[in-house]
Amino acid sequence: MEFGFWKKIKKPFFTIAPMADVTDIAFREIIAIYGAPDVFWTEFVSCDGLCSRGKEKLLIDLKYTKKQKPIVAQFFGATPNHFYECALLARELGFDGIDINMGCPDRAVEKQGAGAALMKNPKLAQEIIKETKRGAGKLPVSVKTRLGYNKDVMEDWLPYIFEMEPAVITVHGRTRKEMSKVPAHWERIADAVSLRDGYFSDAKEKPLIVGNGDVASVEDGMKKAKESGVDGIMVGRGIFGNPFFFAEHKKEISPKKRLSAMVEHVRLFEKYFGNSNIDRSTALKNFDNMKKHFKAYISGFENAKELRIKLMNVKSADEVKNILKTCRYL
Ligand SMILES: Cc1cc2nc3c(=O)[nH]c(=O)nc-3n(C[C@H](O)[C@H](O)[C@H](O)COP(=O)(O)O)c2cc1C
Repeated sequence: MEFGFWKKIKKPFFTIAPMADVTDIAFREIIAIYGAPDVFWTEFVSCDGLCSRGKEKLLIDLKYTKKQKPIVAQFFGATPNHFYECALLARELGFDGIDINMGCPDRAVEKQGAGAALMKNPKLAQEIIKETKRGAGKLPVSVKTRLGYNKDVMEDWLPYIFEMEPAVITVHGRTRKEMSKVPAHWERIADAVSLRDGYFSDAKEKPLIVGNGDVASVEDGMKKAKESGVDGIMVGRGIFGNPFFFAEHKKEISPKKRLSAMVEHVRLFEKYFGNSNIDRSTALKNFDNMKKHFKAYISGFENAKELRIKLMNVKSADEVKNILKTCRYL
């Protein structure tokens, strides 16, 4: 097993979750500035897309800064040799690890036989891990998955992954059918750790298990890690609107501080992706992507709703700043 940088990280470690159109280079930079996790993760990127003529357009999703390290690139797809090619690309781009998505419930992803659909096709899932490892060289390969497809079949599913000996397995404690609608089953994540320990009881090394689902704070993550025995914790929605999650978890963050970070975030968004309201032809992402972030940053304080309404139609970072200034938030 190639563990690469994972070997050097103190347990229990914290990672950000891959979240499409959320954990992009701009948001990761804000997180890096206000409180970096132990490990960064890209959003998922299509292997088929990266192996097609559309490659150039997708490369922005694999861009990162020096602050965003160590960083794992996540890929989705169902074509083993494309994973081989993407693993080579990840090496070339200086990533620290390569992750394979085997949990995404998105219809467009599943239609290709990728994401969560791979749980229904263990042989293909194994082939994909094999090809990724072949391309990865010394880079560690990991898998992010769920407890099962329609029902929890973790004891049948995970051994297929174990057999391929990835360095890390992230277990999102829900089935595909449950989406994110029920509380994550942390008792089953604890079972995944025991299953791993049993499977590898005679082996010199065993893959690390990362638990994922509903982690609300660093304290909550530490508690969940202790109770379940996982090696690390992955945080998704908890960091939405809260780039202070990993650093100032014990402090109350004032609305002013949160909103200043939001302005910085919009500026970085414009820096990396351009502004689709100003020049649609050169923008790499639609400015409207920022709106879900506004909603997340602007909550939990007095007059938050009024402010959210005021920002509904903003078209640039300057406009955001002006409105916040006029309303005396900055
Ligand atoms: C907006 C959004 C986008 C997501 N995109 C991805 C993705 O690209 N790859 C992936 O493996 N999981 C993705 N997920 C799932 C998260 O990584 C994570 O497994 C899930 O949100 C549960 O963790 P949480 O309860 O801490 O949010 C996404 C989740 C959300 C909410």
